[in-house]
Amino acid sequence: MIRVCLAGATGWAGSELARVIAATTDLTLVSAVGRRHAGSRLGAILQEPRLTCQVYASAEEALSTSCDVFVEYTKPDTAKDNIRKALDHGAHVVVGTSGLTDQDYAELDGMAQRLKRGVLACGNFALTVVLLQRFAEMAAQLIPHWEILDYAHEDKTDAPSGTVRELASRLARVRTPTAPVPIGETVGPPEARGATVAGSQVHSVRLPGFVIGAEIIFGMPDQRLSIRHDSGTSARPYVDGALLAIRRVNQLIGVHRGLDTVLEL
Ligand SMILES: NC(=O)c1ccc[n+]([C@@H]2O[C@H](COP(=O)([O-])OP(=O)(O)OC[C@H]3O[C@@H](n4cnc5c(N)ncnc54)[C@H](OP(=O)(O)O)[C@@H]3O)[C@@H](O)[C@H]2O)c1
Repeated sequence: MIRVCLAGATGWAGSELARVIAATTDLTLVSAVGRRHAGSRLGAILQEPRLTCQVYASAEEALSTSCDVFVEYTKPDTAKDNIRKALDHGAHVVVGTSGLTDQDYAELDGMAQRLKRGVLACGNFALTVVLLQRFAEMAAQLIPHWEILDYAHEDKTDAPSGTVRELASRLARVRTPTAPVPIGETVGPPEARGATVAGSQVHSVRLPGFVIGAEIIFGMPDQRLSIRHDSGTSARPYVDGALLAIRRVNQLIGVHRGLDTVLEL
C-alpha cells in the first residue's frame, strides 16, 4: 500500500484525484492539505466516505503523518516550499502544480539527489499532452523554426502554463529555434512577439471559453505543421497520469520532468 499525502485535495484537480485514489486498492490517502477545510475529514467534504484522512492547513502539519508520496496540487506560490518540506520528511514527490521554473527545479534536484528521493513533475498529466511533447521533440529535430501558443481560462494567474514551460524546456534540449529577425530588432513593441521561454517564443492567451490548451506551430518554406492539444472542462484527463506518477515515483532519484519518464513510449 502506497501512503499518499495530497496537497490541494479540495481543489479542482486534487479532489478528482482524491476520489479516484479512494477506489484503488494499492493507494491510500493518509493526509490532505487545504486551508478552508482544515480540521475536517476529506471524505465529508468530497462526499466520499472512503476518504477518512484529515485535512490540514499546511503541508508541514499534514506531513506529521508519515507518507511515501507527497502530491503537490496547490498553487505556484506555495508549491516549492511544500516540495522541500516533503523531501525533508523523506517522501517522494509528484508535482502537478504549474508555475515552477527551471531554476526552481534545478534547486529541488540538488536536494532530491542528496536525500535520494524522486520528484516527478508533470506540467500536464493528460496523455494527449505527453504525446504532443514527444511529437514536438521529433519535429524539432528536423524543423528549426517554431512558436508556441498557450491557451487557458481567463482567471489562470500564471503564464505561461506549466504545460508550455515544460514543452519549451524539453525543446531546448533538442535545439534552439532560429528567428530570422531577432526579437530585439522588432519594429514595434517586442512583446508582440511573445515571451522567450527556454529559447522558444511563447504567446499566452487568457480568455473565457478556453480551459487549457497548447499548440506548437512549426514552419518551413511553403509548409507548416501544427500540433495541438485541448482539454475539456473536467479534471478527469489528469487522473490516470497522476496515478501512474504516484505508483512509479519511488523508482526515481532527483527531479524528472514529464510523464514519459515513467512511460514506455
Ligand atoms: N499537472 C496537471 O496535469 C494539472 C492539471 C490541472 C491543474 N494543474 C495545476 O495544479 C494547480 C492546482 O490547480 P486547481 O485548478 O486544482 O486549483 P484549485 O481548484 O484552486 O485548488 C487549489 C487547492 O490547493 C489548496 N491551496 C491553495 N493554496 C494553498 C496554500 N497556500 N496552502 C494550503 N493549501 C492551499 C486549495 O485549498 P484552499 O484554498 O482551501 O487552501 C485547493 O485545495 C495549478 O497550478 C494548476 O495549474 C495541473
